[in-house]
Amino acid sequence: MGKVRTLRDDVFKKIAAGEVVERPLSVVKELVENAIDAGADTIDVEIEEGGKRMIKVDDNGSGFAPEDIETAFKNHSTSKISELEDFNSLNTLGFRGEALPSILEVSKIELQTSDNSKGQGIYCLMEGGKEVERRGISCAMGTSIQVKELFYNFPVRKKFLKTDRTELNQIVSFLEPMTLVHFDKSFQLIHNNKTVFSYKKTGSLKERLYQVFGKDFLDSLQEVDFVMEPYRLNGFVSRLNTGVSVKKHQYFFVNHRPVREKTLVAALNNTFQKFLEKSRNPVGVLMMEIPPREVDVNIHPMKLEIKFENSGAIYKFIKNGIESSFGVMDDFSAALPADDFRSSSDRTNTYGTGGGNTGGPFSGSRSTQSSGGFTIGRQFSGLGGGSGSASGVEPGEGTGAHTSGGTGIASVGQTQGRLPLDDYRQSQLFTGKFTEEETFTIIGQYKNSYIVAEKDGDLLVVDQHNAQERVNFDQLKKEYAANGVASINPLFPVIMELTPSEKSKIDEKKLELMEKLGFRLESLGGNSIDIKSFPQILGEKNVREAVRTVIHLNVTSKEDEVSFEDGVLAEVACKSAIKVNHKLHPDQMKTIVTNLFKTSNPYFCPHKRPIIIEFTLEEIEKMLKRR
Ligand SMILES: Nc1ncnc2c1ncn2[C@@H]1O[C@H](COP(=O)(O)OP(=O)(O)OP(=O)(O)O)[C@@H](O)[C@H]1O
Ligand SMILES: [Mg+2]
Repeated sequence: MGKVRTLRDDVFKKIAAGEVVERPLSVVKELVENAIDAGADTIDVEIEEGGKRMIKVDDNGSGFAPEDIETAFKNHSTSKISELEDFNSLNTLGFRGEALPSILEVSKIELQTSDNSKGQGIYCLMEGGKEVERRGISCAMGTSIQVKELFYNFPVRKKFLKTDRTELNQIVSFLEPMTLVHFDKSFQLIHNNKTVFSYKKTGSLKERLYQVFGKDFLDSLQEVDFVMEPYRLNGFVSRLNTGVSVKKHQYFFVNHRPVREKTLVAALNNTFQKFLEKSRNPVGVLMMEIPPREVDVNIHPMKLEIKFENSGAIYKFIKNGIESSFGVMDDFSAALPADDFRSSSDRTNTYGTGGGNTGGPFSGSRSTQSSGGFTIGRQFSGLGGGSGSASGVEPGEGTGAHTSGGTGIASVGQTQGRLPLDDYRQSQLFTGKFTEEETFTIIGQYKNSYIVAEKDGDLLVVDQHNAQERVNFDQLKKEYAANGVASINPLFPVIMELTPSEKSKIDEKKLELMEKLGFRLESLGGNSIDIKSFPQILGEKNVREAVRTVIHLNVTSKEDEVSFEDGVLAEVACKSAIKVNHKLHPDQMKTIVTNLFKTSNPYFCPHKRPIIIEFTLEEIEKMLKRR
């Protein structure tokens, strides 16, 4: 007898539902998308126990007509498409008609809905895949769907759910981009009766970014607004030479749908590559309009991924769009090395006034409909002082109250840019001692970033940032092992806005460990925190950025504690280290190299990047064909 059998209906339905509903996040996603498709501009999400016990989404959209309710909860029933051609003009988030029946298959649902403004509504209770009660009620136009006891009849799936906090974090991470692209809608999230966030509807993405991430974050961004028919792009990206240490602030939206797509990620990161230090990542909140016929949105069960028909053209479009936002700078020439300036000024000609030819298959122009008066030129004030300015090093950096914890370079910021050139030339040859036996000679500084020295007949090229990071790290480790990291309490409050997902990453354990490492944080309610103390070496200017990175580090097991501690110290060491593109006095170079060779590993920084390249005389002579 053959072994192949058709699955029983109830088994098949659960398996199919399991593809759409993987965890509480999936339910929130489907219900919120439906609310948006129904034209709502107020969407309230309430969950209990990470969504495992209860998920409720209220909207003020069009509501269900009474006769549509039963059909809507049946497989493959949708009001959004009827023919395959409809994909060519799809402007809704849903289209498969699978979400509601899938959710119903694995939970108990209470629906209240009204499709009219007369207050006439319907209440429905559904369980075991079907309606068990229906009655008329009075309610406002819109829909409220409450999903209870997720996977009550699907124990295998239930077993794989994570802690309430992890489930909540996933929901917050999904809602965050949703609230950005739908800035014109009010959103609220409540967990176990506590408000996680509440954003009133706004008139622009800029205002929503301010609500979600706060002023500091917004100030580090510049606007992108670009058209290359038939494609449109607007949003925000990092200002040149800023960026963040975490990669998570990269949001892409295609036709209002938050998406993950590798062409977009590559276009953003590659465009920024030469403008950012290695450990920095660009921020990007990029909203694209691409003709629906060029996008396949139906390649992932949860519709999280998409595919472009012509990803090469999209890559070029995004890259040109971001570059055009740099190209409009008046003083761009001052902020870039000569080579880069040449190409960027070409770009300015191409895109600056619109209608030029890019040299490629498209013609590009900056869109004239600017979405919010964000002054792009502002961020360059103070950055125009010579080639060193490209590093984002601001005048006065390092002049704060901090010292460098015995590394001897606290004066770096005070002298940069002010050193008379003649003095500098005269003092180019300095001799120092590594140890009693070893001596070295400073030859000079290359591109204001690399210290060139001679040691035991070898030629050394030392990355000044990585070198000082290593020196600082070893110093901090020593302090930590002895009496704890030296910290200071700032005179004035250092307030910082976190995102809801960042706030939810802070728990008692992390706070306790951070305190040992010199950071004391106090919650101010909402998403604000007050940084009561921080490692002395850091300086107030770098503190917020360091705290943000530290919040993203994981502390889960005992083993992780060691790496969390090292992670925090490495972050502090990096943030307080001198940057590249920063002119040094030979004295300072001498101090850095001397201290570097006293560290536990002069060849690699704590982030495992190399510090020194060495050439022997033999190697040099071989290259010059003298041997
Ligand atoms: N909040 C809501 N307000 C009004 N109508 C809704 C709402 N939620 C769902 N509907 C109606 O129910 C139908 C079925 O919803 P469901 O989410 O199952 O499918 P879909 O959104 O059409 O497609 P997908 O499975 O891709 O989400 C929708 O097409 C819509 O007409
Ligand atoms: Mg749907």
